Amino acid sequence: MSYQAAGELESIAIKYANEAIRLDSQGSYPQAIMMYQKSIETLMKLINLYPDYKLNQIYTQRAMAYRERIKAIQRARGIGEEGGVEPKDGEGRVETLRANFDDLVLKEKPDVKFEQVIGLEEAKRALEEAIIFPNKRPDLFPLGWPRGILLYGPPGCGKTMLAAATAAEIDAIFLSVDAASIMSKWLGEAEKNVMKLFQQAREIAQQENKAVIIFIDEVDSLFGTRAQEVGGEIRVRNQFLKETDGITEKGKKTPIYILAATNKPWSLDPPFLRRFEKRIYVGLPNMAARKKMFELYTQPLELAPDVKLDELAKITEGYTGSDIKNIVQAVQLNVVRELFESGKALEPGSKPRPITMADFKNVIKQRKPSVTSEMVMAYIKWSETFKAL
Ligand SMILES: Nc1ncnc2c1ncn2[C@@H]1O[C@H](COP(=O)(O)OP(=O)(O)OP(=O)(O)O)[C@@H](O)[C@H]1O
Ligand SMILES: [Mg+2]
Repeated sequence: MSYQAAGELESIAIKYANEAIRLDSQGSYPQAIMMYQKSIETLMKLINLYPDYKLNQIYTQRAMAYRERIKAIQRARGIGEEGGVEPKDGEGRVETLRANFDDLVLKEKPDVKFEQVIGLEEAKRALEEAIIFPNKRPDLFPLGWPRGILLYGPPGCGKTMLAAATAAEIDAIFLSVDAASIMSKWLGEAEKNVMKLFQQAREIAQQENKAVIIFIDEVDSLFGTRAQEVGGEIRVRNQFLKETDGITEKGKKTPIYILAATNKPWSLDPPFLRRFEKRIYVGLPNMAARKKMFELYTQPLELAPDVKLDELAKITEGYTGSDIKNIVQAVQLNVVRELFESGKALEPGSKPRPITMADFKNVIKQRKPSVTSEMVMAYIKWSETFKAL
């Protein structure tokens, strides 16, 4: 099969998409819709012709994003799904066509504590050294400290939790952005919104006199290495790198940190990695951590005397924190279901029966770990070259 032909179709799709975005940002909506449509058609053709092409997932997402964009334009201009109604006042409605910055950047004060993150001692130590200590006593760090930090590892092991807990620990404002939505929803506005994100961070740092942690989740969707780009990613990436440099510049005193997270560190490209000098592996929980997780999640539940948390920890080797939480939830749900099926659930004060070891084992048997050992190997291999504590 010729991937060269795929490459040609790809460049056609890119051309249409770029044109669509240009027209869109100029306010030439009907023409923009036409170009989006053409780009979608080309992408679909590409996907159908080469079903196993490695970039198909991206193409599908992209086609969906363009479709969403067309719908948004039509809605904003008063053209229903059926079409037909003429727009009354194109100009006045342009605002509603813009992706709303505030919907995409979540500003929060996280309340998860560092101690609540179970295990991950090495990762916690690294974050203390990179963010918490310098923030508390900047005078002890005359040589500066890293501002760009990457958390990588399998899904469900606490990356997001750790980022939020770090922010809470230094009472920082947490600006959380999902890189995938930068690319899919900020269509045509992405560059501007990246600028706005960093500007907001600087303003908060100054006005509220607080540290700011910018958290970019799924950063691989922004900085994956790809042969070609569909729809202006390069500009967005460059903007992002430029802003990052502005913050990480040596000698800068502004307390702004950029934490990025990814499940696919191997797809990150070198310019990005260079700026994220600290790279921290957030891996599977070990036996002691799994036991603590079982303790935590079963705390509000009634357990039968035969339940041994030690043994549960032993038989869940390879499971993630989020797997363990799901196991406990599923077990609990089973006894609640029993109560409902017995018809007693509506009697006041009725309770599910205590949970037994067999209940746990049944659920665990039916649930494979969400991370395979091959995946774990891939992280370890990447770590050998790129880990930087
Ligand atoms: N080390 C941990 N300590 C305590 N809870 C954990 C830990 N790891 C995972 N969990 C539980 O699993 C949930 C999911 O974790 P989190 O969202 O932080 O994972 P993640 O690494 O960011 O995953 P993803 O890559 O899918 O975003 C958490 O909300 C928490 O309930
Ligand atoms: Mg996460």
